[in-house]
Amino acid sequence: MTPRVLSGIQPSGNLHIGNYLGALANWVRIQHDYESIFCIVDLHAITVYQKPDELRAKIREIAALFLAAGIDPKHSRIMVQSTVSGHAELAWLLTCVTPMGWLDRMTQFKAKSAAQESVGDGLFQYPVLMAADILLYQANIVPVGEDQMQHLELARDIAQRFNSLYGDTFVMPATKLPLVGARVMGLDDPSTKMSKSALGAGHAVAMLDDPTRIRKTIMKATTDSNPGVDFETMGSGVANLLAIFQAFSEWTNDQMQAHFAGMRYGDLKKQVAEMTISKLEPIQKRYAEIVADPGYLEGVLRDGADAVRPTADATVRLVKERMGIYTPTA
Ligand code: TYM
Repeated sequence: MTPRVLSGIQPSGNLHIGNYLGALANWVRIQHDYESIFCIVDLHAITVYQKPDELRAKIREIAALFLAAGIDPKHSRIMVQSTVSGHAELAWLLTCVTPMGWLDRMTQFKAKSAAQESVGDGLFQYPVLMAADILLYQANIVPVGEDQMQHLELARDIAQRFNSLYGDTFVMPATKLPLVGARVMGLDDPSTKMSKSALGAGHAVAMLDDPTRIRKTIMKATTDSNPGVDFETMGSGVANLLAIFQAFSEWTNDQMQAHFAGMRYGDLKKQVAEMTISKLEPIQKRYAEIVADPGYLEGVLRDGADAVRPTADATVRLVKERMGIYTPTA
């Protein structure tokens, strides 16, 4: 059987080049080697308050960006999490086998809850819903950025615990990181991960930023006090700029060293900006075409959900049976 890939992105905030290089570009690269499912995880987004109108628009924006980036809807399934009820249903069933202590250790929960005045229980349960997304389809491979590694370990722990309590049911999903770009850092502060929720103007390059804004953000990026690129002593800001260039260009380490060693930071930044623009412009062009045809997008999302629902339903039925939950016989 062809191995299955599943991954997802939250429709909250603007997708940035960290999401693209850490996740989306990797999905596009590997999609045809697998049976692929890519979700817009709206049930995850509401673990933090979202304005309903903005969320509705964001879901479509992200779906259009999946297509524009090169996810092939003839091969891969693109769907919105909440349209397949098995995600929420399995999440509850898995919640009942997940010790609270495991969730208490999640570093993203600690970081996200610290930023909230009032923390909803959904934010605490967030990684269980993510485990449900993956286990619902018995996914073998989960391509993500580095920040999701702990959540994936938890998904495996939950699967293992379920299997040992109720018998072999779930496949163990493996994490797949991109070779370069697994952790793109903030351009204003290379000690923090580039994030959708960070507000500073110089922090991130969004996938839909225009060339002027991209140049401005990258030219202002934090570097260090060296006069130019030194691969031995460079600080994290310069390393981040080089990683962005390498992830977009897919150059080898040798090519990178030969081209950039000794280069002044002004020139490095110009080249990173132009490389970024050259890769995002075609995506932005396709994006504009896709959003001009909302019927097409709705069709892709409907077909995606319809195609995966039988697998989701079968897993929920099996899990219920294993747990002894009422399953009608007639
Ligand atoms: P989310 O929406 O925060 O991020 C989407 C994807 O982008 C990656 N990413 C990054 N990669 C490199 N550098 C960065 N600065 C960076 N920021 C984000 C993330 O690792 C992720 O791959 N919980 C997930 C969504 C999710 C999911 C799933 C993923 C829900 N269910 C099932 C995989 C499988 C999240 O919040 O991603």
